[in-house]
Amino acid sequence: MSEKRHPIPSHIRACARVDARRRAEWLDQLRNDPDGFWRREARRLDWIRDFTRSDESSFDEAAFQIRWFADGVLNVAANCVDRHLPERAERAAIIWEGDNPEESRVITYRMLHEEVCRFANVLKANGIRKGDRVTLYLPMIPEAAYAMLACARIGAIHSVVFAGFSADSLASRIRDCDSRLVVTADEGLRGGRKVPLKQSVDEALPHCPSVETVLVVARTGNPVPMTPGRDRWYAAERALVSADCPSEPMGAEDPLFILYTSGSTGTPKGVLHTTGGYLLWAAMTHDVVFDYRPGEVYWCTADIGWVTGHSYVVYGPLANGATTLMFEGVPSYPDSSRFWQVCDKWNVAIFYTAPTALRALMREGDGPVAATSRQSLRILGSVGEPINPEAWEWFHRVVGEGRCPIVDTWWQTETGGIMIAPLPGATDLKPGSATLPFFGVEPLLVDGEGRELTGATEGNLCIARSWPGQMRTVYGDHERFFQTYFSTFPGRYFTGDGARRDEDGYYWITGRVDDVINVSGHRMGTAEVESALVAHAKIAEAAVVGMPHPIKGQGIYAYVTLNVGEEGSETLREDIVRWVRREIGPIATPDIVQFAPGLPKTRSGKIMRRILRKIAEGDTDSLGDISTLADPSVVERLIADSRLLT
Ligand code: PRX
Repeated sequence: MSEKRHPIPSHIRACARVDARRRAEWLDQLRNDPDGFWRREARRLDWIRDFTRSDESSFDEAAFQIRWFADGVLNVAANCVDRHLPERAERAAIIWEGDNPEESRVITYRMLHEEVCRFANVLKANGIRKGDRVTLYLPMIPEAAYAMLACARIGAIHSVVFAGFSADSLASRIRDCDSRLVVTADEGLRGGRKVPLKQSVDEALPHCPSVETVLVVARTGNPVPMTPGRDRWYAAERALVSADCPSEPMGAEDPLFILYTSGSTGTPKGVLHTTGGYLLWAAMTHDVVFDYRPGEVYWCTADIGWVTGHSYVVYGPLANGATTLMFEGVPSYPDSSRFWQVCDKWNVAIFYTAPTALRALMREGDGPVAATSRQSLRILGSVGEPINPEAWEWFHRVVGEGRCPIVDTWWQTETGGIMIAPLPGATDLKPGSATLPFFGVEPLLVDGEGRELTGATEGNLCIARSWPGQMRTVYGDHERFFQTYFSTFPGRYFTGDGARRDEDGYYWITGRVDDVINVSGHRMGTAEVESALVAHAKIAEAAVVGMPHPIKGQGIYAYVTLNVGEEGSETLREDIVRWVRREIGPIATPDIVQFAPGLPKTRSGKIMRRILRKIAEGDTDSLGDISTLADPSVVERLIADSRLLT
């Protein structure tokens, strides 16, 4: 790993909101008077009723709870929209850039207010009340942000399902939280291709008895079947309601949203975030980590189907009265200069993306970047997976022409917002390191037995105490919440990641240490892919592991054992890949399917994934002890076959 150090550029240091001195002051206050610190920071938001206590959390089993600002009352939509009206009604809240470069819209805070109110009134007219769950299955169009904020306005809990997930994945997420209403679009549009969203909803809903209503936003305008009594066009509903809707006073600990994410076992978990702590964390990190200045255009390329889209396309920037750019398309359409063209078109100052996109663009050479100006860029950001130093250097040297600090931000769906990241005006950068913890975050590294490791070392990354943006529970399964995150290393939140800490105290995330793989910055549970595979009529057994992939970071390597009498063939391999895409969605597409006569198992029948991982990585010289296998000869065969595939 590169240990090169990039000092803070003087033009950034000179006017940064948080420089090294202020950082030291804040850390000091956090140590001496944490309550006072959070009380001051909470002033970033408008509270309807002030809170009396800030942190009441404990990770200990006997007193386990996560609670922040609990008796405070506020509304997220009022904070993201209404309170900006006196000063910024005519400023752009959302700049929407369509898939087609000729299509765009600028939505001011005044317009956003009207749209959110109308959307909220449509939800109410369709029977949605405080506490009801609403599933959003939408492309990257402004209505997605309106719908999220409309739910927040009336106290409904949104569950956004990424529009790339299959009908089956959508159905299971709707069922898990018993949504009463689904918002979708006729079709999505990405890279010039249509995505049949309404069709997926139609396939999902026969398996979702809780859904009464489907609101359909017309995106492409192509005809789609509408089920009478259930499906309504959003535009028609919108025309019937008033442009005024009061916002519901919400307790700081009332739920704001559910977002499903993959873990190492079982079905995806409904990560639940609440109102006060989440919004404060999103707003504060957006402001401080990106050093946001009023009037700047800020662009996070994430889809709203992921947590990055929640916190850094919608909630964080809008809470700060920023101008947030929302991009419907993909980096390669119409050509691989698109990101940079959009930066020039809208004078983007802050650009936040994922390493996988950078690696794909890097492959196209410097030409598509050099063809644009990018003079407006000031700060660059990275998220979702470890950024390899080569991609970091390219981002820095070619995209930012050496003048823009890169904030490599480590965090998770569960953390609500950024946890470890540099501050542009206060932290020297090292390519590949997320650097230092954000205010109030106490990382610690432990060994396999939970013993804390000190100094420069490597271990399992835990967090010692709660922070406001932390998830509060797994929807409908509080016990699973505790078991998943707090039982491995008692008294600590376990992230599932490994990390190294260097002599400067900088953190280097090494990746997941559990059975989760990170494909293009998206989390995929190996168990999920396995259960999709074994649902195939010809598959008896399957084991899935991650493998290194030059663009995606990790790819999906699937070992499948066929039913007796079935023969592996190229056609069957293609059919299996298609099957998984249909069951879960294109992001779960296996990169390699290896037909395995048997899987390496211990005598008690447990699959030894460690061996499968090594074979997938091509690292077969250090397989370790295989003598405990029920049939060690399986391994030879797997190695020989894998060489034919990779
Ligand atoms: O393994 C870490 C990786 O992504 C995981 C979280 O995935 P998800 O909940 O989908 O959220 C992604 C967006 C925040 C983490 O456990 N990860 C995320 N950011 C980084 C990262 N790994 C290394 N460096 C990062 N900056």
